Amino acid sequence: MSNSSLALIIPAAGSGARLGSEVPKPYLEIAGKTILEHTLSRFTTISGLREVVVSTSPQYVDSTGYILKTLFEGLKTTVVVGGVERQHSIRNALNSLSEDVQFVAVHDAVRPFIDPDSIQKCFEAAIKAGGAIIAVSAKDTIKISDGSKQIVRTPNRKNLWQAQTPQIFKTDLLRQAYRKAEQDNFLGTDDASLLEYLGEKVLLVEGNRENFKITYPLDLKFAEWLLTSDMKQDIK
Ligand code: C5P
Repeated sequence: MSNSSLALIIPAAGSGARLGSEVPKPYLEIAGKTILEHTLSRFTTISGLREVVVSTSPQYVDSTGYILKTLFEGLKTTVVVGGVERQHSIRNALNSLSEDVQFVAVHDAVRPFIDPDSIQKCFEAAIKAGGAIIAVSAKDTIKISDGSKQIVRTPNRKNLWQAQTPQIFKTDLLRQAYRKAEQDNFLGTDDASLLEYLGEKVLLVEGNRENFKITYPLDLKFAEWLLTSDMKQDIK
């Protein structure tokens, strides 16, 4: 249990182009609920959670507001319109956060299998270190290429991690990192990379592989199976 206060930012303004779907990924329904609702429901028991902000597309602002009010009764909830890139969607959410919340967790709308224990572990690590992210060790050997598919280098797999979310930071550090990135036109694919760019240290907290990001059609099939199958407890 922690006495520190936490805000949750969920970027949900992506188009779902890689999934090839008309409806954006967070709003696809599985087992009678949107993926966004499955994801949000993983956070309802987190101690210290004080505020939730979701960035979304203009046409989903009203329905998202309703989802938030239903799931987080008594908490401050806000919906903002997202931007062109994930980073812009999170910046818009950060701009709407209360001034006094101590920590911010950023979690992708399309990772509905995060377990509350991992969230809590990541929060505790962020309280100690200033910033922490959930990650899993790289399963495949990763190649660095030049622009024309020529392999340049093969980093040692032992030191490679796949960054997931949540990524949790002291609020003032994350705000500083976003300001610096904006000033320098630095675009990262996760939030930790913005802190790294600022010169801050971020800890890795080992999570689990079930916390995958629904990105491609196969991921969606797997998510449907996990959310509807009785065998889901056996997958680790
Ligand atoms: O597609 P990608 O892997 O970047 O999506 C990660 C998360 O970021 C998704 O939940 C998606 O809805 C969100 N996103 C966003 N605004 C964008 C692009 C992605 O909120 N412009």
